[in-house]
This record gives sequence, structure tokens and C-alpha cells, in this order.
Amino acid sequence: MRFTRLEEAVLEEIRPTSEELDRMYRLAERLMADIRASGKAEGMMVGSVARKTCVHGDRDLDVFMLFDPDLPREDLEREGLALAWNIAKKYTEDIREKYAEHPYLNARIEDLDIDLVPCYKVKEARGIQSAVDRTPFHNRYISACIGEYTDDVLLLKQFVKAGGIYGSDQMTEGFAGYLCELLVLHYGGFHPLLEAAARWKPGMFIDIGQHAAKWFDEPLVVIDPVDPCRNVSASVSETKLLEFIELCLGYLKSPSKWFFYRPPICILTKGQVGDLLKGRESAFLAITLKTPPYIEDIVVPQLRKSLNTLVDLLKRHEFVVSRADTWMLEDKCMLLFELLVNTLPVIRYHAGPPVTAHVNATKFIEKYIGSDAIFAGPYIRDGRYGVELKRKYRHALDLLSSQEIFATALGKHVKHSMKEEFTVHSGLECWQEGFEPFLSE
Ligand code: CTP
Ligand code: MG
Repeated sequence: MRFTRLEEAVLEEIRPTSEELDRMYRLAERLMADIRASGKAEGMMVGSVARKTCVHGDRDLDVFMLFDPDLPREDLEREGLALAWNIAKKYTEDIREKYAEHPYLNARIEDLDIDLVPCYKVKEARGIQSAVDRTPFHNRYISACIGEYTDDVLLLKQFVKAGGIYGSDQMTEGFAGYLCELLVLHYGGFHPLLEAAARWKPGMFIDIGQHAAKWFDEPLVVIDPVDPCRNVSASVSETKLLEFIELCLGYLKSPSKWFFYRPPICILTKGQVGDLLKGRESAFLAITLKTPPYIEDIVVPQLRKSLNTLVDLLKRHEFVVSRADTWMLEDKCMLLFELLVNTLPVIRYHAGPPVTAHVNATKFIEKYIGSDAIFAGPYIRDGRYGVELKRKYRHALDLLSSQEIFATALGKHVKHSMKEEFTVHSGLECWQEGFEPFLSE
């Protein structure tokens, strides 16, 4: 028996039905016929639906439009989008342009979510001009050998989804569908993968095609079998990798359906948050700003960068940060900090030059001796002269509200948005609408 009874029962619920696949295939056929009829490109159904590795209820269909590789990039973008609009308009009015490495179209046709993606029809995956050009190669590679492992992939996807680590987007930093497929193939099934992954450590390196042509230093490296220069798991952060290892260990030790069905996260009420904050006796501060008008994959790394630079700013001003995190919604973003204390005393120790660095030491002493600006000193501590001065920012709230934040390495678009407007919230005020799930977690 490849699967346990529990896993069989899960599979019963997550296998796509032949009706739902047929419906998606029929629509894909029509779209591909439209693409062919245009005489401009070739259509190809790709992604998990094409490989039958989509979980029951998933409604997203990926249809690629393969253009001549000699077409200049701007023409591909313009003609690709124009063709996609023309085709999609025949079926629906619910259409929007999206942007990854270059623009594509997303349309809702009945209850299906269709991506129409222009790409180049390249001969070899090494010759790609854009990341999406690789996808047709993935499709051929996986379709050729996934057959007997389809159920294993479904289980793995459901397992990582329930664990909150499915998706290669910047917010999740987890496992893409294609990565799940490769891992199952490499280890020969769901169980063998779990057994192996339970012993993984960050730095794990897998090269299915035995052809790595580049060095990668991400925590998990899985070389793309169709491209020796790409790490398929570049998106997986160390934390998400360790969470996966933890889930594998946990499931092997005591399997249960909770590894496949995520219990809904418990959203706290404002009252509960108030009690928790009081109990912790720490200080919460949050900055909110308008979400910069760029895609998530651009904004989220900038939010992380901004968060780190502000943590450093707080530390330089002697505020101890116990936790910090960030979240992006469609219209606004939050940078959240938990500090051990909100308010520091007025006195601050300021270290000067080493006592034996005579020239500088003399200047330092001349500047401070007898000065009204100091509480005490200059005196010798740890081989240097130092004085006790008045602190500029006693309250972390004042520091985060000040212009000092713009002298730090904020992400470009985050900085731009904050220059227009930002708000600093303190304590229970951090409980802002839309951020409840983030704050509760
Ligand atoms: N892809 C990739 N790397 C990623 C994301 C996507 O190589 N980080 C490619 C894969 O070839 C993938 C295709 O783009 O099959 C479509 O992406 P997506 O719809 O996100 O993934 P699926 O494999 O279709 O999985 P899902 O079931 O989540 O739709
Ligand atoms: Mg898909």
C-alpha cells in the first residue's frame, strides 16, 4: 500500500473530478483554437491543470501564447496583450492586466480564473528571454513522467497548503507547485520525500538533472532539470524550509488529518488584544502607509528592507526590539514593532575617543568639560572618555514619527509612499482594520 487509509480518504476529497478537468480542457481548447486562428502565436495549456496535478476546486487555468523569438520584446508585450484582450473579450468582461516580468492578462470566465500569458517559443530552456519562457519546458518535463505520482503530488500540495507554506510569492516564501512535483519525482513519492525531508538541513542541495551550472546559496537548492542556471526553490526562506521539516517530522510521528486541513486561524477580538497587550507589559508600535502602486513581489521585499532598517534605527537609539514584522494589504501596509520599553530615561551615555588618542581626546574634553549640556563626565570607561548627555528621543513613538526615518535605507517605493503620508500607532491603536489576521497570528 502506497498510502495510508487517512491519505486515501484525503485523496478522495482532493482529486480533481473528470467533469471539472473536462470543463477546463474544453475552455482551454477553445482559447487555443482562437490563438491559432489569429496566425500570430501558438497556444499551450500549462501549469497544474495541464498536468492533472491541480487540487479539486482549484479554478486557475494557465494558457500560454507562444510567439516567434525574433519578435522584439516591446512588440511581444504589445501584440501579446492585444491578442489576449481580443480573445478574452469574446468570453467575458471581467478582465484585468497583470504584471510579472512582463504584462499578461487575467480573465474570469464563468467561475474559472484564466491567465493568458505571452511568451517566446524558444528551442531550449537555456535560450529563454523571460522567466515565463521556461514554463512550456516544465510542462513537457513533468507531463512525461508524473503519471504514476499524480496522487503523491496532490497529497504534498495539500500538505504544504495546510501548513501555510504553499506558494512562491514574496509574502509566503514557500513551495511552488512545480517544486512539489519535482520533489515527489526525485524521491519517488510522498512518503519517501517526507522520510528524507525529515532529515534535511538548510543547505540541502538537489540536482535532478546532474547539470548545475551555477552556485546558489539559498537554504534549499533544487536545480531546475530544464535549466541548469535556475534554483526552483529560490523562493523558500530558511524559516519556511524549517517549517516544512518540522511538519514532516510531526506527520511521520503522529499522522492526522490536521496536516491536510488547516484549522481556521483564530481571530482575536479587540478586547482580547487589549488584555494580551496588558499582560505582556511590552510596547507595540505600528506604522501604516498606503501600499505603493507596484506588484506584491516588488513591494514585499521593500517592506522587509524597511522593517530591518527601522529596527536598526530603534536599536541605535537604545530601544530594544523584541519582535518586528510587516504585512501588505491591497490598499495599505503595516510595519509592526514590539519593544521592551517605549520610554527611556533622559540620560544617555555617549562614548568618545580612546584616552591615548591624545589629539582627539583633548578636543573631546575641551568640548564637554564644564558644559551645561551634560549630566556628568568626561570620565574614563573601557579605555575611552565618555560623557552623559541628554537623549534626543525618549519615546520610540517620537523617533518613528520623526524625519530620522527618512535618513535610513527604506525601500524606494515605501519611502516614496511614506513621504506622502504615514501614521504611527501605539498600543491598542495598532489594531487596524484589515490587519486582524496578521496581528492575531
Ligand atoms: N512557475 C515556476 N516557478 C514558480 C511559479 C511558477 O516555474 N515559482 C511555472 C511552473 O512551470 C508552473 C507555471 O509557472 O507550472 C504556472 O504557475 P502556477 O499557476 O503558479 O503553478 P501551478 O504549477 O499551476 O500550480 P497551482 O496548482 O498552484 O496552480
Ligand atoms: Mg496554475
